[in-house]
Amino acid sequence: MTQDEMKRDAAWAALEFISKDSIVGVGTGSTVNHFIDALATIKDDIRGAVSSSEQSTAKLKQLGIKVLDLNDISELSIYIDGADEINGQKHMIKGGGAALTREKIVAAVAETFVCIVDSTKQVEVLGRFPLPIEVIPMASSYVSRELKKLGAKPVLRQGVITDNGNQIIDAHDLQITDPLALEQQLNNIVGVVTNGLFARRPADIVLVGSSDGTRVLK
Ligand code: 5RP
Repeated sequence: MTQDEMKRDAAWAALEFISKDSIVGVGTGSTVNHFIDALATIKDDIRGAVSSSEQSTAKLKQLGIKVLDLNDISELSIYIDGADEINGQKHMIKGGGAALTREKIVAAVAETFVCIVDSTKQVEVLGRFPLPIEVIPMASSYVSRELKKLGAKPVLRQGVITDNGNQIIDAHDLQITDPLALEQQLNNIVGVVTNGLFARRPADIVLVGSSDGTRVLK
């Protein structure tokens, strides 16, 4: 089975978690693109979707799924999104698609976060995947210097401007043994908008696509 087939299986398995007449939070990325295809098959049974990126919004609209503004709703029962890495505590690194800030906002509102991944994303210790950090452009050099003090090798992602008009620094070479503490520490650097550690708000349920089928971790 290819990695993309495992992503697709996990994404389609997420349909089981969608209740009738609900509003669905939708993440970003290639796994989520499979989920949006799946969601389109039940679009008449849901009230609509809240999107975490312009990319997902475009695909949702193209498939006829109503996109709602997060500010117009007071609660969100479910959020479906992928991850770049996930550990045994359901802490994640996200932001490979540069949508981490909006993803973190929608995840914060949602009652249940269902993470859809293929088995290659499972790790013991987070950090092999470079940690994305969204920064205000005028602060990128300062933030990079601060990241070096923490032992990271910061690399400015070339040619990428986020949906919020900011830049992404990818922090390489971090062994993230305490994701909760590092998430807080990075948030405290002036100029950082969001970092891609999702530890304070981990996933609640993980659907892991593999060649043996999709496993549900609760
Ligand atoms: C986007 C993300 C994605 O969920 C993450 O990058 C995984 O992407 P893919 O499903 O394409 O492997 O955080 O900002």
